[in-house]
Amino acid sequence: MPKNYNISVIKGDGIGVEIVDQAIKVLGAVGKKFDINFDYKEYLMGGCAIDATGNPLPQETIDGVLNSDACLFGAIGGPKWDNLDRELRPESGLLRFRKEMGVFANLRPATVYDELVDASSLKPEVIKGVDIMVVRELIGGIYFGEPKGKTETKGWNTMVYTVEEIERIAHVAFKLAMKRDKRVCSIDKANVLDVSQLWRDTTERIAKEYPEVELTHMYVDNCAMQLIANPRQFDVILTGNIFGDILSDEASMLSGSIGLLPSASTGLKTAVYEPIHGSAPDIAGLGIANPIATIASASMMLRYSLDEEDAADAIDAAIKKTMADGYRTGDLAAYDCKEQVNCTQMGDIIASNI
Ligand code: IPM
Ligand code: MG
Repeated sequence: MPKNYNISVIKGDGIGVEIVDQAIKVLGAVGKKFDINFDYKEYLMGGCAIDATGNPLPQETIDGVLNSDACLFGAIGGPKWDNLDRELRPESGLLRFRKEMGVFANLRPATVYDELVDASSLKPEVIKGVDIMVVRELIGGIYFGEPKGKTETKGWNTMVYTVEEIERIAHVAFKLAMKRDKRVCSIDKANVLDVSQLWRDTTERIAKEYPEVELTHMYVDNCAMQLIANPRQFDVILTGNIFGDILSDEASMLSGSIGLLPSASTGLKTAVYEPIHGSAPDIAGLGIANPIATIASASMMLRYSLDEEDAADAIDAAIKKTMADGYRTGDLAAYDCKEQVNCTQMGDIIASNI
């Protein structure tokens, strides 16, 4: 009997459709190899949901994802919906979605493929071997804090964290570090912000439960600098919502292409796996998008939600082999490319390498 998983699928807008289709293709190949069956159900979110229902996050989507084992997510948004009121914009739907799903821990790896060291804007000797995991708190902090508001002359948001919120994200970071190089660097602005002092005190306390893990602290401005100056010093970076938003974009650029990096948002009820890049409306429908970040997100789904480590390893190895063999989508065609391929072809090749 094959094992069976219920996967909710949100393709979203722009290139979301093309890239998620490739991830499903690759999951099909690992399913065959490891005797796993995936049952997919598709839901609307973002611009396509606004067009179809007037709501960027229909209740049906919330219920469907909550009832699934995990959610595979493409990308949402685009210029067509940018001028709507903030509450109606796809981004608001995304934040509401994260909150409803309870996905408080956002894992964003930044790794550098050896074949692509030249794709980074940094020198190869600085970035070779970089392997960072950014653990970003995702449903608290200034994104959700009250009070917030705006008048003609004044705008305000509030950065709030409770001890419980800091504790649970710290545990995620320390547990991950135990499986990696056992180093956590916690990022804050404790020289200025009270909320950061609480963050620092709390992470110090939780660290005592993980005596094998080394905890250091760094101010966020210094971290922005250190990521460029000496990125190999980092193993796990633990941080709050807005600092993590900014630093994970910065870390992603170490790898040279935003088309390569996956992410996982895990938490209390279910988990969502998505590429870190957006819906790329400028190339939507052209079939040239790089599906690797989404395929790597499917691998994270197998690893973190479904406990299918072997299947996840098989996907990661297939991606590595495809890169080593010199297949590149347009975004990386300038780097060690033996054959330029489109989105579907990239999916085919990775699937055949499983
Ligand atoms: C991200 C994005 C989102 C965020 C936006 C689109 C709301 O930048 O996932 O990093 O700020 O969290
Ligand atoms: Mg961001």
